[in-house]
Amino acid sequence: MTASPTKTALPAIVTVVDSPAWQTAESAANSLKGSTLRSLFADDPKRANMYTYEAGSLRVDFSKHLLNDQLLSALLKVAVAAEVAEQAEAMFNGTRINITEDRSVLHTALRLPREASLMVDGVDVVTEIHAVLDQMTVFSDRVRSGEWIGATGKRISLIVNIGIGGSDLGPSMAYEALRAYGSPDLACRFVSNVDGADLWSVLSQADPATTMFVVSSKTFTTIETITNATSARTWLMESLGADAVPHHFVAVSTNAAKVAEFGIDPANMFRFWDWVGGRYSMDSAIGLSLMLAIGSAHFHEMLAGFHTIDTHFRNAPLAQNVPVLMALVGIAEGNFFGAQSLAVLPYCQELKLFPAYLQQLDMESNGKSVDRNGNFINVQTGPVVWGTPGTNGQHAYYQLIHQGTVRIPADFIGFAKPNHPLTHHHDLLMANFFAQTEALAFGKTADEVAAEGVRSDLVPHKTFVGEHTSTTITAEKLTPHVLGQLVALYEQKVFVQGVIWNVNSFDQWGVELGKVLATRIGAELAGPNDVANHDSSTNALINHYRATR
Ligand code: F6P
Repeated sequence: MTASPTKTALPAIVTVVDSPAWQTAESAANSLKGSTLRSLFADDPKRANMYTYEAGSLRVDFSKHLLNDQLLSALLKVAVAAEVAEQAEAMFNGTRINITEDRSVLHTALRLPREASLMVDGVDVVTEIHAVLDQMTVFSDRVRSGEWIGATGKRISLIVNIGIGGSDLGPSMAYEALRAYGSPDLACRFVSNVDGADLWSVLSQADPATTMFVVSSKTFTTIETITNATSARTWLMESLGADAVPHHFVAVSTNAAKVAEFGIDPANMFRFWDWVGGRYSMDSAIGLSLMLAIGSAHFHEMLAGFHTIDTHFRNAPLAQNVPVLMALVGIAEGNFFGAQSLAVLPYCQELKLFPAYLQQLDMESNGKSVDRNGNFINVQTGPVVWGTPGTNGQHAYYQLIHQGTVRIPADFIGFAKPNHPLTHHHDLLMANFFAQTEALAFGKTADEVAAEGVRSDLVPHKTFVGEHTSTTITAEKLTPHVLGQLVALYEQKVFVQGVIWNVNSFDQWGVELGKVLATRIGAELAGPNDVANHDSSTNALINHYRATR
């Protein structure tokens, strides 16, 4: 990759949802509404091949969606009209596409190889990024090897990451996903909730002498994180004294002044930059706890996985571009076929936190109703993202997906090889994985049920209409490299959808009002008097709480 100058001019902002391309796509979708997955598969034995694509080591099968060449080609024209490729280029080269915060969006630079170069505002950000990665590597090697010792001379055996949102969800998700690559000598716990139960569940089991706290916060002002970090520091000092703090606390932040004010040695601060959004930050120093857990080599493999998909996204033609296709399939589901949610169903216990991670990635990015021009958007934007690992969900909420009344497209994620030795479990897991996508798509007709000799009054109850659409994502094995690819696939999908809906996917003003009100009510809870300045419901709730706490 060669050095590219900072581009300051934004590409034109296009409102594609009012365009002829959008209307054509909508008509193509409408004409598919009379088709069924059964008929589409029956009509074309090569359907699976036609709609299965590869990116890096990921294989993505879109064939179990209501999709034909006419709709796909119309959707690709929507992507062209929205200037997805131009907007992607603007992101990659450091243009300030986060217009409401006047910032570049450069999480993709976090995974550029060392020999790359990217000039932004006269600075080669790749040099800066790798300097921090090197600092992280030296630190994590020292902790992992036992060279870094606590205040009493003991080696560190527990890392406690204190952070919330993007400063928690990425590293905690990846820690669980890559447990097989962790070290038995170093456990990691992630504390995020201001509910003291979260921190206490860790502190009550921990030995201060062998515990290291990684306080992770982009702003270092987030109330949950600062409250938890302050309580953790008190707990440590009560046991080992104030001088122990530098041996047991490090920070990850963009805010050096606040870190110093908290009392963490600036030498033990790992920095990142305002052009890394919280929900896009797991590749930055926010991944420090993860690097401590899996080691720097595995962390770098994960970064390389991200870069593999970035490269594919940047270079593949739109018609073969898997994140673009995934975004378009999602647009068709939400905007033309009426789905309001997306179930993410990993058949992989290690990905148990992946749906929660994607909730922030997708919903904080595209949960918007005003476009980049400041106008209300007249179509549905980001979906509700939810899910849990299979097969657990099958015994809980799949009933509603199979026979309920709402449309729920699903992403199924599975691997050919497990990361554990109980291989006989894996075929059983994957049998369920394949069975569910098949049952959801094709169901079981009333005739088929009746032919099994089922009593006629039970036939409607045992009939499965089918027609529940899904994407199937597979790879050989969940490795650090593959995890990086998987996350980047979703990051870029979310980016493309944001461009098409014309939202700024990189701000999050919607979380601010609740924070302001919580601060105000916090002061009221501490005050001497009952409150009367809210609506009658909120007043009564606060005053009842004050009386009963
Ligand atoms: O409240 C939302 C948010 O700003 C997220 O976007 C962010 O990931 C999280 O809070 C944590 O912020 P910080 O890293 O600054 O503590």
